Amino acid sequence: MVWVDGWKGQLGQEETPELFVSHLCDIFDEVKRVLKPEGVLFVNIDDSYGDNKSLMGIPEIFLLQMINRGWILRNKIVYAKPNPMPESVKDRFTCDWEPVFFFTKQEKYYFEQQFEPMAESNLQRALYPSYVKTDTGVYGGMDIANQMKAFERILSGNNQRNKRCVWTIATGSTGFEMCQSCQRIYSSAEFDNLPKKVVHHKHSGKRPPGKIDQALEGRGQDLLRPICHCGSSDFISHYASFPVELCITPILAGSPEGGTVLDPFAGSGTLGVAARRLGRKAILIDVSEPYVKMAAYRIQMEPLPLFGTIESKTQEVAPKQLSLFEIPH
Ligand SMILES: C[S@@+](CC[C@H](N)C(=O)[O-])C[C@H]1O[C@@H](n2cnc3c(N)ncnc32)[C@H](O)[C@@H]1O
Repeated sequence: MVWVDGWKGQLGQEETPELFVSHLCDIFDEVKRVLKPEGVLFVNIDDSYGDNKSLMGIPEIFLLQMINRGWILRNKIVYAKPNPMPESVKDRFTCDWEPVFFFTKQEKYYFEQQFEPMAESNLQRALYPSYVKTDTGVYGGMDIANQMKAFERILSGNNQRNKRCVWTIATGSTGFEMCQSCQRIYSSAEFDNLPKKVVHHKHSGKRPPGKIDQALEGRGQDLLRPICHCGSSDFISHYASFPVELCITPILAGSPEGGTVLDPFAGSGTLGVAARRLGRKAILIDVSEPYVKMAAYRIQMEPLPLFGTIESKTQEVAPKQLSLFEIPH
C-alpha cells in the first residue's frame, strides 16, 4: 500500500513511531471526513517497548498529532484491567491499563450523559456526617443542605453520579476460533469438543520465549491440540480483541438509538456485537479477510436479532459521505 506521504508498506511496519502514528492519523482524517459534524470518536491505543527497553510514547504522540489535525480531545480515559496479561518482568511494574481517548470534531457534539453508582464513602458521609473518617484520615461530613440533597437522592433510589474516567473492565476472549486452513469457525464449546492430537510444544520465535514456553520446551512437554474437521490443528482467535463492555459506554454516550457506529480496525467485530445489543447499526472495516469473516459470524451469533443479515464485503468500496448517525430533534 502507498501512503499519502509516498511511504510504501503495511500499517505498523513503519521504521519510527512518528511515521506509524502519522499513517494512523491519515486514517482518522478519513474517519473525520465521513463522521457527522456532531459525531464523536473513541480510540483505544496502547504503547509498546522499543529496542532500548523504553516505552515509545505512541499514545502521547498520537493524541498530539490528532489535536494538531483539528480533533478536540475531551477526555483521557483509563481502561483498567483487573485480570491483565501476566508479564515475566522483574525490573518494572506489570501494566494493567490502556488509554482510551475521546475526541470530537467540533465544540458542540452529541453526548448522552452517563451515570455510575455513587461511591460508598459518599453515602456514608451523608448518613453519618460527623463520625465517619474519610480516605484522607480527616473526619468528613456534609453540611445540612448537602446532607438533605444526598438523602433525597438515596430515597428516590437515584444514587448516581456522572460517570468517571477510570473504567474497570475484565478482559476476555471472543469465544470463537477459526481454522487457519479451511476457515471454519467454532464456538468455544464446539472447539473444546473437537478431537485432539498430541503436538510437541515449539515456541513460534515471533516473540521472546516466556516462562511457559521455556518450561514446556525444557521438559519436552507435549500439548493436546484440537483437530479441525479438515484435519488441520492451526487455529486463530483474535490476538487483540477488547471486551464488549469497553464499547458499551462510548456507544451509549456517543450515538442515539438507531444511529450508526464505525470501526475502521474492527478485528473480531467487538464493536459490532455491542452495537447489535444496543440497537445501533455498525460499519466495520478490517484489512484481514479471515477477521472480517470471523467478525460477521460472531455478530450473527449475537442472540438479539435486531437487524437483517450481515453483509461482509471484502472488495474495495468507493469513498462516499456516510451518514454516521441522525441527531434526534
Ligand atoms: C487491535 S486490533 C482491533 C481489535 C478489535 N478492537 C477487536 O475487538 O477485535 C487491530 C485490527 O486492525 C486491523 N488492521 C491493521 N491495519 C489495518 C488497515 N490498514 N486497515 C484496516 N484494518 C487494519 C488488524 O487486522 C486488526 O484486526
